[in-house]
Amino acid sequence: MMKSFFIGNREIRLPIIQGGMGVGVSLSGLASAVANEGGVGVISCAGLGLLYRETSGNYVKNSIRGLKEELRKAHEKTAGVIGVNIMVALSNFADMVRTAISEKADIIFAGAGLPLDLPSYLTQGSKTLLSPIVSSARAAKIICEKWFANYNYLPDAIVVEGPKAGGHLGFKKEQIEDENYSLEHLIPEVVAVAEQYSDRKSIPVIAAGGISTGEDISRFMEIGASGVQLGSLFVPTYECDASPVFKQVYIDASPHDTMIIQSPVGMPGRALDGDFIHSVELGKEKPKGCAFHCIKTCDYTKSPYCIIKALYHAAKGNMNKGYVFAGANAYLTEKISTVKEVIVKLKEEFSVAQQKVIARRG
Ligand SMILES: Cc1cc2nc3c(=O)[nH]c(=O)nc-3n(C[C@H](O)[C@H](O)[C@H](O)COP(=O)(O)O)c2cc1C
Repeated sequence: MMKSFFIGNREIRLPIIQGGMGVGVSLSGLASAVANEGGVGVISCAGLGLLYRETSGNYVKNSIRGLKEELRKAHEKTAGVIGVNIMVALSNFADMVRTAISEKADIIFAGAGLPLDLPSYLTQGSKTLLSPIVSSARAAKIICEKWFANYNYLPDAIVVEGPKAGGHLGFKKEQIEDENYSLEHLIPEVVAVAEQYSDRKSIPVIAAGGISTGEDISRFMEIGASGVQLGSLFVPTYECDASPVFKQVYIDASPHDTMIIQSPVGMPGRALDGDFIHSVELGKEKPKGCAFHCIKTCDYTKSPYCIIKALYHAAKGNMNKGYVFAGANAYLTEKISTVKEVIVKLKEEFSVAQQKVIARRG
């Protein structure tokens, strides 16, 4: 059986966190389904202002409205743990953090940059837990030091996202295939950082990126992870908030469809090949203007395409105008299942793997 663990004072019955997936891939539907199984369901903030644009107001206001609405819907469907994923690279990072805290999100996961000022947003009596997402022990250490020095606060958990993850990657292109940067290397290094603070706080480390079986989960727990974060595996589920077309792209994918792209966010990203990516390569998708300014570092005059629109169109099933982010093992998914079925299978595989571990130890 998979062991529960604590993030702060919250017991997580199933040590599985569903990774936040923008734009519109993990909203209240997927998040509440995972939370109902005892894991942590996560709403992604990326592009909420576009998803909620039919209402009045501008991108910034619509994003706030969208997050409030998604948290409300999630809390209606589950009494489980609901988190919010907020990328540091988002221009409205501060707005989204304030909204998540005021709307009583259980936890904030913040990556795609170092969330150095995240604890500064906590308000009196707030119970929202804070977890950075990092891709190196160095980043974990910097965050722990800065949070402790500046806010007398330490992370409630640390997610370590390795190079096999889907979406934006915190690695240089040449590091992605380098064994020294593998998740298997990173986890013990980040666990060692967390242990330096064990007299002050117990900081669970969560492994993410390319995890697709219960055996993988068992392997990362053996090297010190308290839980895992899964993204791609939850995409081809009925509850996932993306269009069925998006899910079918996963099911139809083969290993050679997986590719690394350079994202306008300024980081490499892992995606599945498609017509839109070819069109970008031919220079045909250059944006003519920018209505959102959603990414801090994005200059539309230099960008080969508008990432928020591309991801939005993909989530809506319009593959001529977008592409899908996916982890290195996304191609292994074979059919649309329920979240429950995915989790039952992982639990069974985990039990088999654990029996082997026990047998090996004699
Ligand atoms: C479609 C998709 C969208 C994603 N969007 C985000 C995001 O908005 N913010 C973020 O921090 N990570 C994002 N990720 C990363 C996931 O949260 C997760 O950590 C990662 O996918 C784990 O690897 P796996 O897909 O191999 O399980 C995304 C991943 C995918 C596949």
